Amino acid sequence: MIEVYRSRKQPHQTANLPENYLMKVEESVEKIFRYFKSRLELDNSLEEQPVLNRHSHTAFLLKGLRHLSISYECLDASRPWLCYWILHSLELLEEPIPEETVSNVARFLGKCQCESGGFSGGPGQEAHLAPTYAAVNALCILGTEEAYKIIDRQKLYTFLMRMRTPEGAYKMHEGGEVDIRGAYCAASAARLTNIVTPALFDGTPEWIVSCQTYEGGFGGCPGMEAHGGYSFCGLAALSLMGHTSLCDLRACLRWTANRQMRFEGGFQGRTNKLVDGCYSFWQAGTFPLIHMVCSMQDDHCLSTERWMFDHEALQEYILVCCQHQGGGLIDKPGKSRDYYHTCYCLSGLAVSQHFAGGKLAHLHIVGSQDNELKPTHPVYNIGVDAVVHANMYFNNMSLPQEPDV
Ligand code: FPP
Ligand code: ZN
Repeated sequence: MIEVYRSRKQPHQTANLPENYLMKVEESVEKIFRYFKSRLELDNSLEEQPVLNRHSHTAFLLKGLRHLSISYECLDASRPWLCYWILHSLELLEEPIPEETVSNVARFLGKCQCESGGFSGGPGQEAHLAPTYAAVNALCILGTEEAYKIIDRQKLYTFLMRMRTPEGAYKMHEGGEVDIRGAYCAASAARLTNIVTPALFDGTPEWIVSCQTYEGGFGGCPGMEAHGGYSFCGLAALSLMGHTSLCDLRACLRWTANRQMRFEGGFQGRTNKLVDGCYSFWQAGTFPLIHMVCSMQDDHCLSTERWMFDHEALQEYILVCCQHQGGGLIDKPGKSRDYYHTCYCLSGLAVSQHFAGGKLAHLHIVGSQDNELKPTHPVYNIGVDAVVHANMYFNNMSLPQEPDV
């Protein structure tokens, strides 16, 4: 299997990067694949198949919930993100979180909630849509009554309404940049907590669609280059708003499918750039969304067995090239580990192991069945059970009041 990819070198183009950057990455990946293949030839047993190093990843993740090294100082305004990345990774690995930790993390996130609504990057900081998304996701993963009760839904709604621009786009924070992440973060937090009103997303789907570029993916705002991170946000937000039919889905599918690297098997974030483990989710995570829309349109050409990307090649890239020896996952060989890449490599691995529900729930798991992760929800990127549980809790609560203007 791995051998196949060794013969599919990319035609090197140079619009974004000098040719030798792309070649250097291919060479480092080739070295690892060759080493791996030679081990397989020596002993073709299951132990020599790629193994997900669950124990070392779990140890790395649990350590991060207690203590972070000085290298995380730069993420002092992203502390709810760190909670989300770690909790979601543990959830995918099906590792239980000690009860006391669940309560500690929930109370910490409570300290990040702002008086005037929404969550900030850390206690005493300003409310921002990105940590608001991360905090709501993290609290829903914790899934306890204590965690749910922390979210002040009325204030969250007021904050989201304040972030709206007149045309229906979203600012990331008061006086901050307007981009497609804002629409997704707002839609995700609002849908999970059941505070969506017609006023909240009036005009938003149309604004999101104006971010789709001639390439087919979405840019951060109208006129900007298509990028996997923004593409996921655009399509997931349109899915949450029930308006995917407004965008050019075929163009989005073509662009996204072409971002899978023929040699490495992982994804690049944009045309002519390098493979990176985090796009295993931002890019591959859009295939379930595209599939969902096509199946609602009764598209008879649609596979009932697999997503429209090479899911085995992606699993191989993640398992062979993105696992750090000491635990945690990485962007590409030679890079250091971090919680962001750990979360999105594992999320991408989960997407590439599981097909839509029912009897066909499993795709081919590369390596042994022990590598299997828990499926992730394609829109929120938290466990499917965490979404169901949050819906059960929030969906019988009344909608918030419109804020005074
Ligand atoms: C380019 O980085 C990265 C971006 C332009 C933004 C990416 C956006 C996301 C990952 C989505 C964030 C989502 C939420 C919900 C907040 P780069 O130039 O370093 O990387 P590249 O060379 O791979 O493009
Ligand atoms: Zn990355």
